[in-house]
Amino acid sequence: MRSKIVAGNWKMNKNLAETDSLLTELSAKLPDTDAEVMVAPTFVNLTRALQTLESSKIEVIAQNMHYAESGAFTGEISADMLLNIGIDTVIIGHSERRAYFGESDAILSKKVITALKNGMRVMFCFGEELDDRKSGNHFNVVESQLKNVLFNLEPSAWTNIILAYEPVWAIGTGETASPEQAQEMHAFIRKTISEAFDSTIATNVSILYGGSVKPSNAEEIFSKPDVDGGLIGGASLVADDFIAIVKAI
Ligand code: PGA
Repeated sequence: MRSKIVAGNWKMNKNLAETDSLLTELSAKLPDTDAEVMVAPTFVNLTRALQTLESSKIEVIAQNMHYAESGAFTGEISADMLLNIGIDTVIIGHSERRAYFGESDAILSKKVITALKNGMRVMFCFGEELDDRKSGNHFNVVESQLKNVLFNLEPSAWTNIILAYEPVWAIGTGETASPEQAQEMHAFIRKTISEAFDSTIATNVSILYGGSVKPSNAEEIFSKPDVDGGLIGGASLVADDFIAIVKAI
């Protein structure tokens, strides 16, 4: 049985004081839910976030990590550093990392392997650009993103993988994939995984949708059978909006 998940990707937002205040409000307002609720603050505030949320059900996850175990990689963060402070889930492959930091499938594959080798859970993001969608190439693009990074893994690795389908044209743009477009792609993703591995793995993996999810559209998107929750950017920075989205799951 796959989990329902709502995760907030804070990106490069919220300083320490703002992190404290948003997390305090979120934990006070968190409804009773079977879904996993996660937040991904910036690296420098992860320890504080863990302390603030010590008695909360909200999990703290990381936005990124490096593929090397340690070494001369100025400015980077390793799996061990995250695990050592108590973070065991990491977002890998966000479209902003791909677009602005040159993270290719080859790099992302190394990151995923390192995270899994260290026993971490990976939230792997992928999705097509607007041109791919317009030219009808979106299924091919998504399939190759999955294949290049995830299809060489051992079947057992899939228990530690969460997928986040995020069409690039819908991220931070206010434009959302329609619930039907999300369902169509999520069903395609599950079918592709079923063909590459087996139907149990495909059935058990959580597939989140991301891209301009907000209180007004969350319920309809989450009602689709293959959509298991959302990865939320902008709306995760406002406590009442994020809580409304959690209530929609
Ligand atoms: P958005 O971002 O909700 O602001 O569109 C989603 C994401 O980047 O994960």
